[in-house]
Amino acid sequence: MAEKHKVGSVSALAAGKPLSAKIDKQNIAVFMINGAVIATEGKCPHAGGPLHKGELDGSKLSCPWHGWTYDLTSGVCEEDPEVRLPTFPVQVEGDDIYVLL
Ligand code: FES
Repeated sequence: MAEKHKVGSVSALAAGKPLSAKIDKQNIAVFMINGAVIATEGKCPHAGGPLHKGELDGSKLSCPWHGWTYDLTSGVCEEDPEVRLPTFPVQVEGDDIYVLL
């Protein structure tokens, strides 16, 4: 059964800075896209770049290392549609953000 893990606050995310968290051995990146909180794998599937440091343009995230681009609403990689960024369920309670793992 999934467990709830607090990863940060909505107010911090709303300030425009993605969050990163590590739960057990899982790296997580947390973004706000059009008011919705989205949690994804934190390391780029290409070579492990830190995705929370990537550049956001709407729902498109560019990896800071080699620029692979992901659509955060679907997880699909534009350079290789076979590559999909895993996403995780999120729960928001007040200002607290939880990821379910
Ligand atoms: S590690 Fe992300 S594009 Fe290479």
